[in-house]
Amino acid sequence: MNTRRLPVFADVDTGVDDAMALVYLLASPEADLIGLGSTAGNVGAQQVCANNLALMELCGRPDIPVSLGSAVPLSIPLRTAEDTHGPTGLGYAQLPVARAAPTGHDAATAWIRSARDHPGELIGLATGPLTNLALALRAEPELPRLLRRLVIMGGAFDYRGNTTPASEWNIAVDPEAAAEVFGAWGDAVAAGHVGELPIVCGLNITERMALHPPYLDRLAEAAGPHPVIGVLREALRFYFEFHDSVGEGYLAHVHDPFAAAVALDPALVITRDACVGVELDGALTRGMTVADWAGHWGRPANARIAVDGPGLPEVFFDRYLARVAPFARGLGEAM
Ligand code: BDR
Ligand code: CA
Repeated sequence: MNTRRLPVFADVDTGVDDAMALVYLLASPEADLIGLGSTAGNVGAQQVCANNLALMELCGRPDIPVSLGSAVPLSIPLRTAEDTHGPTGLGYAQLPVARAAPTGHDAATAWIRSARDHPGELIGLATGPLTNLALALRAEPELPRLLRRLVIMGGAFDYRGNTTPASEWNIAVDPEAAAEVFGAWGDAVAAGHVGELPIVCGLNITERMALHPPYLDRLAEAAGPHPVIGVLREALRFYFEFHDSVGEGYLAHVHDPFAAAVALDPALVITRDACVGVELDGALTRGMTVADWAGHWGRPANARIAVDGPGLPEVFFDRYLARVAPFARGLGEAM
């Protein structure tokens, strides 16, 4: 049996559900989280970076390199989502400032170095706007060939947006970056320079991961008293209130940990291949992810779009708890 762990680079805009994704990656024995990119999105890049460093320290992994990303999207001003994720991005949770500092290189460079250090092996996960991945692709167009797999949380396929009627948050913050990323994969496919197509988890599937408060009670009971569970609970309490305030009910759509789970196990989803483009001009539809299901454009598929999955959402929630609870318990015993 091959027991080698899968190197993973995660580009995140932490963010309540990004934090859940990071804890899941740390709790997954088959994953080796080799670095983090901090992308501006839910909160500013500096705050995302501080959140990432603090979370890694809380989880006993201050050694994981965390890189700061661009402060702004490629060509438009940054918008942030403190209404959704709280003033620091982690809801009501308060983390001590980490002792570790960010790397001396930026997040785009971190993408490239991680991919070059693990050619054909690296799993990339993007759960924030695609600014830094787009910058990395500008500097290293071979990235689609160097990566083993890329999983993106972003977009909404045959489904409404959550930021505008047509656009999902991660795409809406930097539509030009998303267009460049899908375009770059399209170019790589056309040149025969790509293995697996990126797997895209849009709102059409991630909103099925609706977390309700009793689940957190079960998680806390199974995990014991380590503070990481308290941080997730306090972060999610804010996220519940946000969802409630916009008429979704007292629950939370946990997009990013689902994408993280797919990154480690693509069998969680059923996908359909299509060429994906990002609308950049539409007065009503800017930031919309358009999948050319019927091949009207005559362009090869550049993405695998998650449309369903066996046993979802229970399979995902069961797996999250089965991994994160013993991980947190182990951290508590080591204290
Ligand atoms: C995405 O937007 C962010 O607010 C979440 O962290 C998630 O990545 C969902 O649209
Ligand atoms: Ca996110």
